[in-house]
This record gives sequence, structure tokens and C-alpha cells, in this order.
Amino acid sequence: MSVLKTIRKDYLKGELLESEISKDPVSQFQNWLDLAFKSGNDHANAMTLSTCDKINMPDSRIVLLRDISFGGFTFFTNYGSKKGKDIDVNSNASLLFFWPELERQIRIQGNVKFLPTKESDAYFESRPFESKVGALISSQSSVVSSRKEMEILFQKEFRKRENTNIQRPDNWGGYVLVPSSFEFWQGRANRLHDRIRYTLNGSDKSWLIERLMP
Ligand SMILES: Cc1cc2nc3c(=O)[nH]c(=O)nc-3n(C[C@H](O)[C@H](O)[C@H](O)COP(=O)(O)O)c2cc1C
Repeated sequence: MSVLKTIRKDYLKGELLESEISKDPVSQFQNWLDLAFKSGNDHANAMTLSTCDKINMPDSRIVLLRDISFGGFTFFTNYGSKKGKDIDVNSNASLLFFWPELERQIRIQGNVKFLPTKESDAYFESRPFESKVGALISSQSSVVSSRKEMEILFQKEFRKRENTNIQRPDNWGGYVLVPSSFEFWQGRANRLHDRIRYTLNGSDKSWLIERLMP
């Protein structure tokens, strides 16, 4: 028998009650994010971004949440990457946070739009020189023949750009996922986990709050 089948864990670290949650899911998210950092998770802003390509094949990867602004959750990447191509053909996407030290999960669904170029410029400007060079040479998610080739490209560009101010390349920048639903999950004893879903009412922008069976 696989050892995985023998692992049993009871979740006892918290509770999520209607009487204590925020009416606004973004504030609720912010409270939980702060607690996740405070509990010692220095990757608490790492989120799984799931997208779908043109034949509806889903794909997931981690990106870092950089801000909550412009109506949503912002992250930075290469616009020509796999995720960028997916978003071009289908701007619906989801985010997932898992914070095991608090026995918490958050699911977010929404629609992705470009961050205004000014914001992308400002963020790119704040990055270390080496990261800027990396962004210039990496046509993210394309095939490269070897690590050596990558390193040579990096060194060449590094020397060429040394002591210059690197501008943000057009194919690199931010996206915002504008949320339309959230689900907050808190592990509880006996598998009676707490699940609270917020669904956006498109016409009056209010949030419907519902409890889901575990
Ligand atoms: C902890 C962590 C943080 C990451 N942060 C980012 C990020 O902010 N932006 C990004 O483009 N890729 C980030 N990556 C790399 C992505 O997971 C992924 O490999 C890359 O973006 C290519 O994805 P794609 O081929 O689906 O476009 C991160 C990976 C890890 C493990």
C-alpha cells in the first residue's frame, strides 16, 4: 500500500465564521495574506496562476503577487510567454494560494487585463540590473539549446548594457486579474472544513457570500 494512503492529518488551526469575515473579499484576502507572512511564510505571495489555451487545455504555474491595485491582483511576466499567449486567446484565469502553516487555501477567478504601461515601466525600473538583463534576453517559454547558450546571451547583453539605463522591453510587463469570485478555505476537524465563497453581482458590484459544504 502506498505510504501516501496512510498519511492522515487533522486540521485544527483556525476557523472561518460568517460573523467574523469581512464583507469585502479583498479585505478578507489582505487579512489572510498579512497573517500568512506573519506566520513565517516568506513565499506567501506566490500564487498558482491557471490559464487555458485555444483548445481549452488548462495550464498552471506559480507567479508572484506584486500588488492589489487597478481593481485586482497584479503580477509581472513576459507577454510572449505561454501564459501570455493563453491570456491573449482566453482572458479568464484563476489564482490559487495555499498556506499550509495556517491550513488555508484561497481560490480566485477572474478576467485578466494589461496593467497600464506606466505601472509596468515603474516596476521594471525598480528591478535589479541583472533582472533587467535577464528580461531582455529571455524570450520566456521558448526552447533553448543549452544552459551555456543562455549564459552566453546573458553575458553578452550584460556587457553591452553595463552602465546604461535599461528601458522596459515591450514584451515584458504586468497583468491584473480582476476578480469575480473568491473562495476561502479553512481546514477544520473531522473534514468539516469551512468554505466561504464570494460571488460578484455584475450589476450592483455587491458580493454574495455563501457557505459551501466541505
Ligand atoms: C516561487 C516562484 C515565483 C515565480 N514568479 C514568477 C513571476 O512573478 N513571473 C513569471 O513570469 N514567472 C514566475 N515564475 C516562473 C513561472 O512559474 C513559470 O516557470 C514561467 O513564468 C513560465 O511560465 P509559462 O511558460 O506558463 O508562461 C515563478 C516560479 C516560482 C517557482
